[in-house]
Amino acid sequence: MALLPILEFPDPRLRTRAEPVRNFDRALRQLIADMVETMYAAAGIGLAATQVNVHRQLIVMDVSSEKDQPRVYINPEILTRDGEEVSEEGCLSVPNVFEEVQRAARVRVRARDADGKAFERELEGLEAVCLQHEMDHLAGKLFVDYLTSLKRERIRRKLEKERRERAGGASKPAVRAAARVI
Ligand code: NI
Repeated sequence: MALLPILEFPDPRLRTRAEPVRNFDRALRQLIADMVETMYAAAGIGLAATQVNVHRQLIVMDVSSEKDQPRVYINPEILTRDGEEVSEEGCLSVPNVFEEVQRAARVRVRARDADGKAFERELEGLEAVCLQHEMDHLAGKLFVDYLTSLKRERIRRKLEKERRERAGGASKPAVRAAARVI
C-alpha cells in the first residue's frame, strides 16, 4: 500500500469532473486500498479519487469512531434527498478551514462496490453530509464554493501563506477537529 499525495485548493486539477469507473479490476482494488490508507493517515473521514488526482467516480469513507468500517462508493448517484442540515465542514484539500454548509439531512444513494456489484443505502447525519461533500469533489466542486467569493479569496490567501511558510521550514499546523475533515 502507499500514501497518495492530496491536492490542495486552489489546484485546478480539483476542478476536473470524474469519469465513471468501468473496470473493476485489481488496479482498482489497489487504488481503493491506497485511498483508505491515505484517508486514515490524514485523519479524514472521507476521500474522493479527485483529491488524489485520479479522475474516476470513486469515494472512500469511514465515519465510525473506531475507524474500522471503511465504505466504498463507486459511480454513486443520489436517488432521493430529504430535509436540511447545516453543519461545520472541513476538507483534506482545504486544510484547517472549517465553515458551515447546508446540505440534505438524508440521502438515498445507489453505487457499486469494489467488485462492481450495485447496492443502495440510506444515509443520514454525518455520513449523509460526507457523501454529498465527496460527490461534489467528483463533480469538481469544493465546499468553499458555497461561501462568498470574498471569503473564498481570504481562504486561498491564507493557504498560500501557510504553504510559503512550510516551504520556508515551518512545520505543518496541527489538524483541528479532525472528525469533520472530509
Ligand atoms: Ni473534501
